[in-house]
Amino acid sequence: MQRIPTARPSWNDEMRIAAIETLDSLKWVKGVKGKQFGLAFAEHCGALSAAPCQNGSSSLWASLRLLGIGEGDEVIVPSFTFIASATAIPLVGATPVFVDIERDYWCLDFESVEAAITPKTKAVIGVHIFGQPYDPRIIDLCKSKNIALVEDAAQAHGATQINTNGEKLFAGSMGDVGCFSFFPSKNMAVGGEGGMLTTTDQELTEKVKAITNHGRAPNLESMELGSNLRMSEVSAAIGLVQLSNLEKWVKRRREIAQKYTEAFANHPHVSIPKVRNGAEHAWHQYCLRTSAPKKLMKYLDENSIDSRSYYSIPCHHQAVFTKHPQFQSPMKVTDEVAGNLVAIPVMHELTDLEVEHIISIVSNFEN
Ligand SMILES: Cc1ncc(COP(=O)(O)O)c(C=O)c1O
Repeated sequence: MQRIPTARPSWNDEMRIAAIETLDSLKWVKGVKGKQFGLAFAEHCGALSAAPCQNGSSSLWASLRLLGIGEGDEVIVPSFTFIASATAIPLVGATPVFVDIERDYWCLDFESVEAAITPKTKAVIGVHIFGQPYDPRIIDLCKSKNIALVEDAAQAHGATQINTNGEKLFAGSMGDVGCFSFFPSKNMAVGGEGGMLTTTDQELTEKVKAITNHGRAPNLESMELGSNLRMSEVSAAIGLVQLSNLEKWVKRRREIAQKYTEAFANHPHVSIPKVRNGAEHAWHQYCLRTSAPKKLMKYLDENSIDSRSYYSIPCHHQAVFTKHPQFQSPMKVTDEVAGNLVAIPVMHELTDLEVEHIISIVSNFEN
């Protein structure tokens, strides 16, 4: 058995042809592929509009700019996330307010969000961590308090959640602005760096596109502070093909996750991830919780299986936030969970044989 990586992006003839044809057309930027990709992505997730951009991090920065957030404003964010969710906030001059996560699902905790709201709170950045949507009550809370909700859906392409009105929402339509990443390990990719901004807010439908293009109006006058965050045409062409496979790929991830969950449900040394009621998890990561993460990772490595530890240092404890008032503050669940989650391969490209190998190896893990 060859070593099993944690990520294996899909690449086939259809994507290769789409890429080559786009390069051959010599229309490398600002073309029809980007427009089509934005339209197709908005349709996929039920957003009003979407704009392809350079990566997930710049989509987060742009989302806060779009919402007019800056100096003197507070933005609530979970500390247990990839660092870009948090650093986007000081990058627009605002202050991050870090909150704890749920013990069961590891997304930002509803009560902690409620308690962190002050008159300065302008937005909440909710993260669909590992592909699991956040508590839908957060959508209602933000609406009732007139606070913007930014959806960090970088890990959640294809995830869904029933909201408190009983409607099924896709990641990308569970907030005012949605932010996606197409980093190669994600549920879908674009053959390089890439991201997508989505919106469900009528007033922002044109602005999401403009902000990726210097905030320009059709007459080329810059109306808002933006930058060149555009995606190249070749990436958009690849993204269009990848998007047409997303449903099938997420289904495969769910199949694999289900097999793991059945196999490890009674494991004495690891515990399985839980799925929220009404959620369809997108399984960007399948994380096992263990009190012996290093031992598990070493054991997997010795058996040719790659794994990753998530997230060993919560954002608010990272050096970049040394001067933040919460830098040394304990955070109960976050501090407890950080470093104890080990992600095993769950990508759609895994073969049945590889899945069986992973199941048999993890089943025999002893602590
Ligand atoms: C939760 C989360 N937010 C934001 C990002 C940033 O995306 P990118 O790497 O495309 O800039 C990532 C990417 O890993 C992520 O996982």
